[in-house]
Amino acid sequence: MRSHSILSSFGILAAFAATANAVVPLYDRCGGEGWTGETECPEGAYCMVLNQWWSSCQPAPVVPCTTFGPYINPNSKTDGLNSFAVRRGKYFGTAGDWVYEDVMNCSWARIATDPSEFGVLTPGNSQKWDSTEATQGVFNFETADNITNWGLKYGKKIRGHTLVWHQQLPDWVTGGTWNATTLKAVLKNHVTTVATHFKGKIFHWDVVNEPFNDDGTFRNSIFYQILGESYIEIALRAAAAADPAAKLYINDYNVEGVNAKSTALLNLFKKLKACGVPVHGIGVQGHLISGQIPGDIEVNFNRIVAAGAEIYITELDIRMVVPPANQTAAYEQQAAEYAIVTKACKVTGRCIGITVWNFTDKNSWIPSVFAGQGDALPWDKNFQKKPAYYGIAKTLKP
Ligand SMILES: *[C@@H]1O[C@H](CO)[C@@H](O)[C@H](O)[C@H]1NC(C)=O
Ligand SMILES: *[C@@H]1O[C@H](CO)[C@@H](O)[C@H](O)[C@H]1NC(C)=O
Ligand SMILES: *[C@@H]1O[C@H](CO)[C@@H](O)[C@H](O)[C@H]1NC(C)=O
Ligand SMILES: *[C@@H]1O[C@H](CO)[C@@H](O)[C@H](O)[C@H]1NC(C)=O
Ligand SMILES: *[C@@H]1O[C@H](CO)[C@@H](O)[C@H](O)[C@H]1NC(C)=O
Repeated sequence: MRSHSILSSFGILAAFAATANAVVPLYDRCGGEGWTGETECPEGAYCMVLNQWWSSCQPAPVVPCTTFGPYINPNSKTDGLNSFAVRRGKYFGTAGDWVYEDVMNCSWARIATDPSEFGVLTPGNSQKWDSTEATQGVFNFETADNITNWGLKYGKKIRGHTLVWHQQLPDWVTGGTWNATTLKAVLKNHVTTVATHFKGKIFHWDVVNEPFNDDGTFRNSIFYQILGESYIEIALRAAAAADPAAKLYINDYNVEGVNAKSTALLNLFKKLKACGVPVHGIGVQGHLISGQIPGDIEVNFNRIVAAGAEIYITELDIRMVVPPANQTAAYEQQAAEYAIVTKACKVTGRCIGITVWNFTDKNSWIPSVFAGQGDALPWDKNFQKKPAYYGIAKTLKP
């Protein structure tokens, strides 16, 4: 019996060719705790550990994706979303995380590591408060380090995400009994410790995430309740002191076009600037709905950069009802919508780049949060490029 561990065959594709007596069919089980059956995979496949209990025969990747040595994906090309963006002085990126579905899935990793497609990586969850400081004063960066260092190894810029947010907070924060002195100390300590830990590795930090309600009033988070809007300044100053080289962003959704929320965000930026608070950019998340793309994105972007802010489209996806009645028509419409959003960044000088929130419909937060919706991304569930991909590509192509 013989099975190839991906580690032992790093870089040696030929090693996969020698497996003569294939016994486990492709995709079937070949190992895991308690497994007593055959472990040998067919030619061109290897026995991949999916979890403690289950390994299965998977097609051999062009580059072993579970090894973490630096490599440039041999499939990388000069035409790709990031290649086009870079030639315009911008970036194209993806979110991803240290999970089986993302970096540990070869199909995912092969595309994500391709520098022609993505030049930026945003850790989706692992840098958030509940991951980094689940217990007060006890910091754990293991998962966050893994995804951050993985991205750096593959040449990505890292968008740090996120230092202060009202969600994914541990109970000790949301349920704590605070006064302004104690919560300020906790906030400063969190921001300082996390930003210091990643110092030098992060090109943008989403320092404050989602501070506003849709009507432009401040969201009544625990931070706002106790500290008022001063929590934003406290966080920005702590982040700047900890990592002076990182660009500091305030990030929110439903701020693509001109509306009460984007106006409030812009006014906040202006006020912070006027008070000398370190802040550089406005993150426009871009969680959009097909058929409801604002018509004034460029107008909004223009007023943001006129106020001295840079812009980054930080979490782009364009969701639809699934399955669409006519997929061809729905995907064409979505492609045109991706082109509209991409063009807004293209024509706005200080729009630094665009990041999609995961790139494949297989790995998207949408279906779990918006029941009955999905298909929001440029690659489909089988990692094939959709019309949306080409909508972005043709817009960015110099
Ligand atoms: C990776 O994703 C592909 C496409 O969905 C899937 O077929 C495959 O089983 C996944 N592999 C692992 C190891 O999870
Ligand atoms: C991408 O999708 C996977 C699988 O659904 C999920 O575990 C991961 O957290 C997602 N990443 C981001 C950045 O949302
Ligand atoms: C981080 O990566 C290392 C090396 O690959 C691995 O041993 C460790 O289990 C990972 N940590 C987590 C929390 O996934
Ligand atoms: C805040 O709470 C701390 C701890 O309970 C207490 O020592 C401090 O006096 C309080 N400060 C104010 C201004 O109430
Ligand atoms: C679906 O949409 C395409 C593109 O608009 C169109 O050519 C086709 O006729 C439509 N199919 C049906 C069944 O309506």
